[in-house]
Amino acid sequence: MADKMVSGASSPGARVRVGVVGASGYSGLELLRILAAHPQVELTLAAASHSEARPLPEVYPHLTGLPALALEVYSADACAERCDAVFVALPSGSSGAVAAELWARGLTVIDLSGDLRLPAALYERWYGKPAAPAEAQAAAVYGLTEWNREQVRAARLIANPGCYPTASLLALLPAVRAGLVRPGGTVVIDAKSGVSGAGRSTAAHLMFAEMAENFLPYKVGKHQHVPEIEQMLGEDAGPIVFTTQLLPTVRGIYASCYVPLADGVDEARVRDAYLARYEGEPFVRVLPPGEVPALKHVRGANMCQLGLVVDERTRTLMVFSAIDNLVKGAAGQAVQNFNVIFGFPEETALTAAALAP
Ligand SMILES: NC(=O)c1ccc[n+]([C@@H]2O[C@H](COP(=O)([O-])OP(=O)(O)OC[C@H]3O[C@@H](n4cnc5c(N)ncnc54)[C@H](OP(=O)(O)O)[C@@H]3O)[C@@H](O)[C@H]2O)c1
Repeated sequence: MADKMVSGASSPGARVRVGVVGASGYSGLELLRILAAHPQVELTLAAASHSEARPLPEVYPHLTGLPALALEVYSADACAERCDAVFVALPSGSSGAVAAELWARGLTVIDLSGDLRLPAALYERWYGKPAAPAEAQAAAVYGLTEWNREQVRAARLIANPGCYPTASLLALLPAVRAGLVRPGGTVVIDAKSGVSGAGRSTAAHLMFAEMAENFLPYKVGKHQHVPEIEQMLGEDAGPIVFTTQLLPTVRGIYASCYVPLADGVDEARVRDAYLARYEGEPFVRVLPPGEVPALKHVRGANMCQLGLVVDERTRTLMVFSAIDNLVKGAAGQAVQNFNVIFGFPEETALTAAALAP
C-alpha cells in the first residue's frame, strides 16, 4: 500500500493512476470518455470479462484522447500493480465482490453497482442475490455527493448511487429534510428511463423493434431501487410509491415526484428551501417558476435539473427531475466523488454542456 497515492491529500499537478473495470459496458465507456479529459488522471487499465487485441480508440471510435490501452481480462493483481483508484462498473452480483477485493488491497474504489448500497438482508431481499462481503458493506459510503460530501471526502470505498435514486433523491430530499411533507402522506415517484439504463444486454424487450414507438412500465412494485430511495429519505417520508417505465430514448431519467404538502407550506417556502439547499451546487439547477426540465437539456451533462410546481388545489408539490442516467446517474457522479476524495476541484472533467437537440 505504501506506493498508492493517498486520497484526500493530492498535490497540485499530481496524477492519479486510474483503472476502469467493466470498461466495455455503457457506464464503463462513459467513465473512459469523462476520464480521458481529466487532467489529473492517468488511465492505466481498462478491464472486462473479455479482452481485445486492438487499442480502445480503435474498438470504440467515439473515444478519442485515450491512451492506446487495450481492454484486458480483469485481474486484481493487475489493478493493484497499476492503479491507485479503480472504478468498478460490473453487473450487480459481481461488482461488489470485485470492489471489496480491490478495496481490501489498499485501492480507492468507486463501485457503480447496487451491491454496496444496502444492508445485506435488504439487498438479498430486493436483488435476490447473495450480499457482498460484510466489511465492504459496512465501510462503503453512499456517494450522493450533494448530500454526503463530507463522508465521501473521508472515504476509500464508495457505493455510487443508482440512476433512479439520484434523480429522485435530489428532487425530494430538500422537501423531506425541511419538513415540508405532510405527516402520514405518501410520496409518489413516477420515473422513466432511456434504454441504456439496462446496460448492453441483448434482452428481447430492449431490441429496437420492441422499444421504439413503445412505452410501458416494468418491475412494478418490486424495483430494487425502492429500498435505496427509502433508506436515504428516512422515516420522515415513510414508504414510497415508485414506478419505473422504459422510454424509447437512449439516455435519460425523468422522475416526476408528487409530495403531499404539510399544512401551511406555500410555494414561496418550497422554493426557498430548494434554492437555499442547492445554492452553489454546480451540478443541480433549480429552474425558475413555471419551467420544467427536459431530457435534452441534461443529455451528456453531469447535471440534474429540477422544476417545482405547487398545486394548491390538491396541496401537492410536484418536483420534475431530469438527469442523464449514464452521467449524473452513473459515471459523472462517480468522477464527482473521485474529485472530492482526491481533493481536486469537484467540477474537473465534468463541465461539458448538454447535447441538444
Ligand atoms: N446503465 C446505467 O444507466 C447505469 C446507471 C447507474 C448504475 N449502473 C450500474 O453500473 C453497473 C454497470 O452497468 P452497465 O449498464 O454499464 O452494464 P453493461 O453495459 O451490461 O456492462 C457490464 C460490464 O461488466 C463487464 N463484466 C460483466 N461481468 C464481468 C466479470 N465477471 N468480470 C469482469 N467484467 C465483467 C462486462 O464485460 P464484457 O463486455 O466482457 O461482458 C461489461 O464491461 C451495473 O451494476 C449497473 O446497475 C448502470
